[in-house]
Amino acid sequence: MEIIIQPDARAAASMAARFFTQTIRRQPSAVLGLATGSTPLPLYRELVQKRLDWSSITTFNLDEYLGIGADHPQSYHCFMQENLFRHVNIDQGNIHIPDGLAENPEEHCGQFERGIQTAGGIDLQLLGIGSDGHIGFNEPSSSLASRTRIKTLTERTRLDNARFFGGAGLVPRHVITMGIGTILDSRKVVLLATGDHKADAVAGAVEGPVSAMNPASALQLHPHAVFCLDSAAASKLARVDYYNWVFQNKPSWQRLDED
Ligand code: GLP
Repeated sequence: MEIIIQPDARAAASMAARFFTQTIRRQPSAVLGLATGSTPLPLYRELVQKRLDWSSITTFNLDEYLGIGADHPQSYHCFMQENLFRHVNIDQGNIHIPDGLAENPEEHCGQFERGIQTAGGIDLQLLGIGSDGHIGFNEPSSSLASRTRIKTLTERTRLDNARFFGGAGLVPRHVITMGIGTILDSRKVVLLATGDHKADAVAGAVEGPVSAMNPASALQLHPHAVFCLDSAAASKLARVDYYNWVFQNKPSWQRLDED
């Protein structure tokens, strides 16, 4: 794992954005895995400002609430259109987000998985992290081998997301999410985490044991996982000096393109 610690949230998002910029420039037909939440907003703003060519890019989003439609203001469909897709030249036909109103959700999950395979697999997957360590909507106790499926949210996640819905009671209980196994199949993963409310989850993911109780810890099994953190999210890591030293001494062939 590569742990990159930046002084603040904006710099951490910029660092994560550089991985996406480099992929989009070098691989115009890349398949990107995308995430929602407050954390990636500055990253998406930066990608929009860069005026990259998205015309041949394909995207798969991690998750969606079950029972709400694409036009619901809190749907992840709406989030992605508002914050990224309507600002770039992506072909709307290349966008894939689980359908919260699918007639047969279980069948839909299988189709979503097959869609990723047909597209050639995900080249670069963006992740946030829940305060309980969830990635996508894979809550603690999710199978580390799981595929896209229906999950039930924990009360903690519903409380965390209540601010978007105007109350925890209005947050749907069920979701469709890529599985941890699905995420681990991506060729590269960039997890962006900012703020001290993520520090415990990040410390568990990076330095704790691999455990279904901290789903992000499964990334320890991934050959190319990068954590882009601000100093608050990194504040409970024990080996910050080492991670900083590694980053400062990266061999030139491993460095990211300059902007
Ligand atoms: C939701 C999303 C996750 C996201 C998490 C954290 O649960 N399904 O993909 O990582 O929220 O969101 P935030 O960035 O707002 O803290």
